[in-house]
Amino acid sequence: MSFSLNSSKIDFLKIKIDEAFQDQKPGTSGLRKSTKQFLSNNYLQSFVEAIFKTLPGVNGGILILGGDGRFGNKKAIEVIIAMAVAHGISRIITTVDGILSTPAASNLIRKHKAIGGIILSASHNPGGQDGDFGVKVNGPNGGPASESLTNEIYSYTKHIDSYQTINLDALDISIPSEILIGKTVVEVVDGIEDYVALMQEIFDFEKISCFIKNNFPIAFDALNAVTGPYAKKILEDLLGASAGTVRNGIPLEDFGGCHPDPNLTYAKDLADLLLKSDKYSFGAACDGDGDRNMILGNQCFVNPSDSLAVLTANANCVPAYAKGLFGVARSMPTSSAVDVVAKELGINCYETPTGWKFFGNLLDSEKITLCGEESFGTGSNHVREKDGLWAVLFWLQILAEKQCSVSDLMKEHWSKYGRHYYSRHDYEEVDLEIANNLYTNLEARLPSLINQNFAGIKVCIADNFKYQDPIDHSLTDAQGLRIILEDGSRVVLRLSGTGTKGATLRVYLENYVSPDGDLAQDPQRALSALITAIDQLAEITKRTGMDKPTVIT
Ligand code: G1P
Ligand code: ZN
Repeated sequence: MSFSLNSSKIDFLKIKIDEAFQDQKPGTSGLRKSTKQFLSNNYLQSFVEAIFKTLPGVNGGILILGGDGRFGNKKAIEVIIAMAVAHGISRIITTVDGILSTPAASNLIRKHKAIGGIILSASHNPGGQDGDFGVKVNGPNGGPASESLTNEIYSYTKHIDSYQTINLDALDISIPSEILIGKTVVEVVDGIEDYVALMQEIFDFEKISCFIKNNFPIAFDALNAVTGPYAKKILEDLLGASAGTVRNGIPLEDFGGCHPDPNLTYAKDLADLLLKSDKYSFGAACDGDGDRNMILGNQCFVNPSDSLAVLTANANCVPAYAKGLFGVARSMPTSSAVDVVAKELGINCYETPTGWKFFGNLLDSEKITLCGEESFGTGSNHVREKDGLWAVLFWLQILAEKQCSVSDLMKEHWSKYGRHYYSRHDYEEVDLEIANNLYTNLEARLPSLINQNFAGIKVCIADNFKYQDPIDHSLTDAQGLRIILEDGSRVVLRLSGTGTKGATLRVYLENYVSPDGDLAQDPQRALSALITAIDQLAEITKRTGMDKPTVIT
């Protein structure tokens, strides 16, 4: 269907920004702030203007637009469409009701050879009027905007004083359609179909379907966020999992009041179902915008670092990866479990800074096929974002192929490769000054630690991690304080770049036990010496006044 709206005359408006727009530096995933901040005068518009003024190819280009359905999603889509028309975009592809997961957006950008995409989401942060909102910018490869682009956007925001838009009545995006506005076509597509088709190209749906229908009950928690409709289509309609498999499956503007972060704290209901009852053999959850995943088995939580290692070790179970992997990559704080598998497979393993954008060049240049982060993010070269449901299907495919349970697979893995005991301790909403002082104080002490004992073991490396991109040779420094011990154990300390209240201090702990050691310990116990040592050295309890972390993963 095609009809025109206001097409006889478009008035281009140049709106003066009357209130000073505080310059906004995008973080790793775009601009993420409170919903209230985004509602304030011209705030969203100013940032979007900076995007349209800096993103290459805007005039005459194709733009993908959608979001995770949180409060503000639809309104922002209208604002951005009006501004995109004024900036000469030729085609805007958005989705029914504006619902589009981050990996599905990445797929659409690549499929339509778009100049990029704008994804409205604050990822795993709570939504609603009292929650957070966000604007993520992706480039033409489908991945998060490069550092050089986000720096340009930031520079532009520093002297912005007006933005361009048009007058636009409310648009109906509740059904697939084509709407002509001036010279711009707004195409409303079903946001689910293309993504589902991509998954069907990668995995053997029939094999997974037979497996789960044969007494392998699964539960999926969409946490009232974007993956609900995708998961219902894939798990219930196509794979035949029983009705009700997908819990909290309707995207709600405030995510039903829950915190859409798939970990043991915020997805506790699902975790209890898997860990405290025998009802289900497999459980999974995804975050607000669908790029994160948590995998659970009956009485078994899969640490995300281990998950990447298991996917790598068993990639030959999946049709799309059966011919082998180019290589793999993990972010620096992610455990070295995947390194051991890569060595065994004879492929390269890259260590990058935190944030998905650092995988982009490695994926584009076919240096790697799989990559992941300890923060519940796993993905491959099928898109340029981490992909929650893809990881769920990957796990189901391996289990279907090997006809085993999650915990058997983990035990088998550790008995072959050894176990990397791993945990992340987050201290949230720490006073900014206290957190910064704690960090700089520890950084200053690092050089003196070398060759000294830490938790009874000799320190070999103590530094602030820096990275040189092997493809474009760009340098990124100050990516986290590392203390690496002689036996391979590590403690890493970072300040979060995505938190919106105060500072979030992240402490990452890792300790390797070889296949002939004790592989069945409780991770917190296995890491207790490191936990005590870093608390003493960095004075975490003393300086923050917090005697325990807010979230332990
Ligand atoms: C967090 C995670 C990081 C991830 C990012 C976006 O960033 O730690 O791995 O890439 O969210 O999902 P942080 O808050 O630690 O800067
Ligand atoms: Zn996310």
